[in-house]
Amino acid sequence: MTHLDLLKRLKRWNSLEPSFGVLGFLFVASIFVGSFFCLDYRAVTLRLKAAGLGSLGSPFSTLVGRNERPGFFDDGGNECDVFDGNWVWDEGYPLYESRDCSLLDDGFRCSENGRPDSFYTKWRWQPKNCNLPRFDADDMLERLRNRRVVFVGDSIGRNQWESLLCMLASAVSNKSSIYEANGRSITKHMGFLVFKFEEFNCTVEYYRAPFLVVQGRAPAGSPEEVKCTLKLDLIDWTASQWKDADILIFNAGHWWNYEKTLRGGCHFQVGPEVKMNMSVEDAYRQSIETVIDWISAHVNTSKTQVYFRSYAPVHFRGGDWKTGGSCHLENLPDLGPSFSQASTHQVILIDVLKNWYGDIGQKQLELLNITGLTGRRKDGHSSLYYLGPGNGPASLHRQDCSHWCLPGVPDTWNELLYAYVLKRERAGSRNQTSGSQDPL
Ligand SMILES: *[C@@H]1O[C@H](CO)[C@@H](O)[C@H](O)[C@H]1NC(C)=O
Ligand SMILES: *[C@@H]1O[C@H](CO)[C@@H](O)[C@H](O)[C@H]1NC(C)=O
Ligand SMILES: *[C@@H]1O[C@H](CO)[C@@H](O)[C@H](O)[C@H]1NC(C)=O
Ligand SMILES: *[C@@H]1O[C@H](CO)[C@@H](O)[C@H](O)[C@H]1NC(C)=O
Ligand SMILES: *[C@@H]1O[C@H](CO)[C@@H](O)[C@H](O)[C@H]1NC(C)=O
Ligand SMILES: *[C@@H]1O[C@H](CO)[C@@H](O)[C@H](O)[C@H]1NC(C)=O
Repeated sequence: MTHLDLLKRLKRWNSLEPSFGVLGFLFVASIFVGSFFCLDYRAVTLRLKAAGLGSLGSPFSTLVGRNERPGFFDDGGNECDVFDGNWVWDEGYPLYESRDCSLLDDGFRCSENGRPDSFYTKWRWQPKNCNLPRFDADDMLERLRNRRVVFVGDSIGRNQWESLLCMLASAVSNKSSIYEANGRSITKHMGFLVFKFEEFNCTVEYYRAPFLVVQGRAPAGSPEEVKCTLKLDLIDWTASQWKDADILIFNAGHWWNYEKTLRGGCHFQVGPEVKMNMSVEDAYRQSIETVIDWISAHVNTSKTQVYFRSYAPVHFRGGDWKTGGSCHLENLPDLGPSFSQASTHQVILIDVLKNWYGDIGQKQLELLNITGLTGRRKDGHSSLYYLGPGNGPASLHRQDCSHWCLPGVPDTWNELLYAYVLKRERAGSRNQTSGSQDPL
C-alpha cells in the first residue's frame, strides 16, 4: 500500500466522518501512521546520504521530501506563499523533547502529562511552491547575539514564546546559563518574563497584553453596567518596555470576544467616550489600527523587525471550553484539501493591514499568516493533558482545545519566523556587501 493510496482512503473516510465512529477512525489512523514508520525510515536514511554531510550544517540544506522545489530564498523569498501548503510526516521532528526543556509551563508538557500518542510532534509544514530552511538553533542564537526578541499578546503568544525558548535552548549545553532575568519562575503567570541566554547576551521576552490596548477603569459618570473599559486608542502601558526590541512579535484575538469583554461589563472606549453600541469586531479592528499607528510613530523599523502572527484557531467540537467541547482523541491533522474556515479575527487583521499598506506597498510589519495551516491541526491541542505531570488527565468536560502541546504546532510558527528573519537579514546584507560575498 503506498502513501497515496492511504491518503486517498483517508480523504474518502474523512468526508464520511460525521457517521464514522471514533474506533474506526483510530484504526485508520494507526494503519496510516504505521505505514510511515515502515516506509519512511528507509527513505530518510537514503535521502540523508544523498544530501551529503556537507550540506547538513547549513540552514538551507534540503532534507526529507524537500526535493524539486526552490528554497524560500531562491527568489529572494518574495514570490513563494509559505503559508500555502501541507503538513507532511517527517521523522526529523520534533526539534526538542519537553523533558529536556525546563523552560516550559507544565500546561504544555502533554507527553509528560500523560498524552499517549506522539504523532502530533512529527508533522512538518511544507509550503506548496518552495522549501523552508530547516530551523538551526545555533544559527538563530548567533543572529540574536546582543539582541532582544519580544512576544506581546495573549497566552497563545506565550505558547509560541515558550516554544522558541525550547527550540533555542536545545543548542545550549550549559542550561544554567539560561535564566529569567528577574529570577521569576515560568509557571507563575506574571505580567512579563525575560529569559536571558547568557552566552549570547540575548533575551527572549514575553509581555502579557491580551488586548494589546489598555484595559482600565471606566471614566467617571459612565452607566452602572460599565465595569471597566478597553481604551481602543491607547497601546498597552508596557509598550515603552518593548518598543526598542530587535524582533517584535504581536498576536491577539482570543480575548476579543463577547465573553471576555462585554459580558463581564468591559466596554469599549475611544478618547473620553464609552461606545455603548460598538461591536466586538469593530473594537478589535480599532485596536489593531492603534497598534499599527503606534508602530509607525514609535518603532524604528530599520532596527526592529515587527511581525503580527494571525489568529490560531481553536478546535472545540460540540461545545466550547466550559460546555464540554472536545478535541480529545484527535490524533491526525486534516491532510485533505484545505477547508478554509474563515476566521473573523484573521479577516479583520488582514483587512486592516491592506487598508494601511495597500496590497504591496512599504510594509513596516510582516504578517505571519498561520491561521489556515494551524486550523488543520486539531490534533495538536493540550486536550486533557494540561494539568502537570502526575496530576491528570483532566475531566472530559474541561478540555483545552485552544492551547498547544509542546513540542508541537507553535514550533512551526517559529520556523516560519526564522525563515523571515533570515530573509530580512539576507536582504539587508545584500545591500551592505555586494551580493556575492553573502555569508549565507
Ligand atoms: C548586551 O545586549 C544589549 C542589548 O540587548 C546591549 O545593550 C549590551 O551592550 C550588550 N552587552 C554586551 C556586553 O555586549
Ligand atoms: C554555566 O553557566 C553558569 C551561569 O552563568 C556558570 O556559573 C557556570 O560556570 C557555567 N558552567 C560551565 C560548565 O560553563
Ligand atoms: C444604541 O442602540 C440602541 C438600540 O439599538 C439605541 O436606542 C441607542 O440610542 C444607541 N445608543 C447610542 C449611543 O448610539
Ligand atoms: C534606526 O535604526 C537604525 C539602525 O539601527 C539606526 O542607524 C538609526 O539611527 C535609527 N534611527 C533613529 C531615528 O533612531
Ligand atoms: C492568509 O491566509 C489565508 C488562508 O488562511 C488566505 O486566504 C489569505 O489570502 C492569506 N492572506 C495574505 C495577506 O497572505
Ligand atoms: C536594499 O536595496 C533595495 C534597492 O537598492 C531597496 O529597495 C531595499 O529597501 C533595500 N533593503 C534594505 C533592507 O535596506
